[in-house]
Amino acid sequence: MLQSARDRLLLPAGMMSLLIAGLAYWWLDNGPHEIFGTAMFGFLGWHLTMNRRWFVKLRSGRYDARRWVVLVTHVWLGITMTVLIVTSVFISRSVLSFAQFSNDVTIIELHWFSAYWVAIIVAVHAGTHWTRVMTVAGTVLRLSPSPTRSGVLRLAALLLLGLGAWSFTVLGVSTKLMFGYSVEFWDFTTAVSPFFGHWTVVMAGVAVLSHYAMICLRLLNKTRIRTTEGQT
Ligand code: HEM
Ligand code: HEM
Repeated sequence: MLQSARDRLLLPAGMMSLLIAGLAYWWLDNGPHEIFGTAMFGFLGWHLTMNRRWFVKLRSGRYDARRWVVLVTHVWLGITMTVLIVTSVFISRSVLSFAQFSNDVTIIELHWFSAYWVAIIVAVHAGTHWTRVMTVAGTVLRLSPSPTRSGVLRLAALLLLGLGAWSFTVLGVSTKLMFGYSVEFWDFTTAVSPFFGHWTVVMAGVAVLSHYAMICLRLLNKTRIRTTEGQT
């Protein structure tokens, strides 16, 4: 059980924290930025090894809408994460400083562009697997089903959705995702923690959307099966 908590809860939470820390480039020095980023890629290797069965089973079983959504999200995440890793290697000045591959502005731009996309798609990805995260958390904490807790969690989800939408505009995420070079950097000399707070709720809001989209798809699928069974 402890291993499950470590691999399915602590590891993703750690990767998420390192990812958000990586976005705070202008607060960290270049050295810590590269170390945190490299650590995240290392943990990602562990995450992928642990979930390798998913890749092995890709060609077996039936694909319904939810399975397609998960597949497309993983492909999309895989592409953006690969761009982030490759550009990191090329532009490194500390961890791989001996290599000194490039100072090309286009590669640097691709680096931050892919970083913002990774942040959003990782949130979509976490949302599509949220039911499993909650199941593991419930088992580890030995929680039995409770309508009151479910109600509180649903309210929290609604709150995160609203806060996430607000933080999305505060951080100018849409400009960043459209390759629009935003000159409005977060001013870390005035405040540090709100930056992390805003990114956390942006990602939480996107995860809430994706989690409920998966629930809707499951309900639609159930209705479709019931209708088909009724017709036969
Ligand atoms: C969690 C993974 C990472 C994320 C989210 C991330 C994100 C970012 C962001 C947002 C910037 C600021 C770009 C700007 O606004 O000008 C940046 C810059 C930079 N990153 Fe990363 N990065 C990550 C990993 C890495 C790694 C592993 C390396 C190298 C080993 C690296 C090397 C750099 C360098 C050298 C810059 C400065 C580019 C410049 O403006 O000259 N990053 N990164
Ligand atoms: C910061 C990066 C990431 C975070 C926070 C994250 C988070 C999660 C979470 C919370 C889960 C569900 C719990 C579990 O089964 O372990 C999961 C599962 C999974 N993740 Fe990630 N993930 C990240 C990156 C990636 C990447 C880049 C890929 C590759 C495409 C990936 C592939 C998978 C797979 C294959 C599963 C299992 C799916 C299944 O069995 O249905 N993850 N991830």
